[in-house]
Amino acid sequence: MNSETENILIIGACGQLGTELTLALREMYGAAQVIASDLQCRVPVLAESGPFEQLDVLDSRKLGQLVDTYKISHIYHLAAILSATGEKNPKLAWDVNMAGLLNVLELAREKKLKKVYWPSSIAVFGPHTPSQQTPQYAVMDPNTVYGISKQAGERWCEYYFQKYGIDVRSLRYPGLISYKTPPGGGTTDYAVEIYHKALEGEVYECFLKEKTYLPMMYMPDAVKATIQLMEAEAAKLTVRSSYNVGAISFSPEEIAAEIKKHISTFSIRYKPDYRQQIADSWPSSIDDSVARADWAWQPEYSLPTMTKDILSNLRKLKMQAVS
Ligand code: NAD
Ligand code: SER
Repeated sequence: MNSETENILIIGACGQLGTELTLALREMYGAAQVIASDLQCRVPVLAESGPFEQLDVLDSRKLGQLVDTYKISHIYHLAAILSATGEKNPKLAWDVNMAGLLNVLELAREKKLKKVYWPSSIAVFGPHTPSQQTPQYAVMDPNTVYGISKQAGERWCEYYFQKYGIDVRSLRYPGLISYKTPPGGGTTDYAVEIYHKALEGEVYECFLKEKTYLPMMYMPDAVKATIQLMEAEAAKLTVRSSYNVGAISFSPEEIAAEIKKHISTFSIRYKPDYRQQIADSWPSSIDDSVARADWAWQPEYSLPTMTKDILSNLRKLKMQAVS
């Protein structure tokens, strides 16, 4: 990317993904050229390390003003209501997820933006999708409002690419796991909470059953995949809806067993709630061979290497917080 003429706007920057992606993009392209935005500045480092703007993605007028003011050429639109929160407020989830994306795509068309990034999710799949090694193209019958909005979003992205030539790119992330920022109300959040409880010496009460396998990914791999896709040569991209990307697949009992290798006293109990039904409708593993062929996707972290990395870094963060 030519850093003298290209500027990035990140929408929903204070979330689990946005916080780490914003810092990585500032490192690569320069802090002044990466404008973070969200409903409120909940993450001080984002305002301390570069420009921050308050933005509701539903406010298309302000969105347009920011694009003009900062001469934005690239948008990373991350703002969304995730699966579990979405089931509690379906109308809000539909409005934010759908109207927000359409505002961004329309703006990209009007202002001739160079690239748009928008994440989809494994939630686009449903109970009739093959659950093992779910292929890039499969039956999609999502039964959460979040999944329905992501599936519709994928169709809109492909439509804007085909109809208007907008260079929009997308990944179907699995559950993202990070120790730096809290998750935002998803069904896969247990795989973040469990590390915190383990280090606090508490029994973890898991809201999914012990054998519920879901596709997951450690945040450094998610950031790497996003940047790699955005840097890929346009001619090599054969998918303009959203790419399957896989990394790890595990169940609550497997992550608990991995943590026990480091903290022998750790224990877990199971109390499934409404999120079990959501998890049961999603794939247990993902076939990402198209992403691997098109732009050389290759995850780095396994369950053991991720667990080791999270526990050692999170332990340090927790010690700093009390000292
Ligand atoms: P998050 O909930 O942690 O963050 C979303 C951010 O969007 C929040 O900071 C929130 O304040 C902001 N936001 C909400 N409504 C907004 C609005 N109207 N205007 C502007 N900002 C608004 O979510 P995340 O985990 O960082 O996810 C980022 C993206 O990645 C989302 O599109 C999500 O669907 C997708 N994704 C995430 C996961 C995951 O496991 N975290 C998996 C698949 C896909
Ligand atoms: N991890 C996300 C969720 O559980 C999937 O998109 O909502």
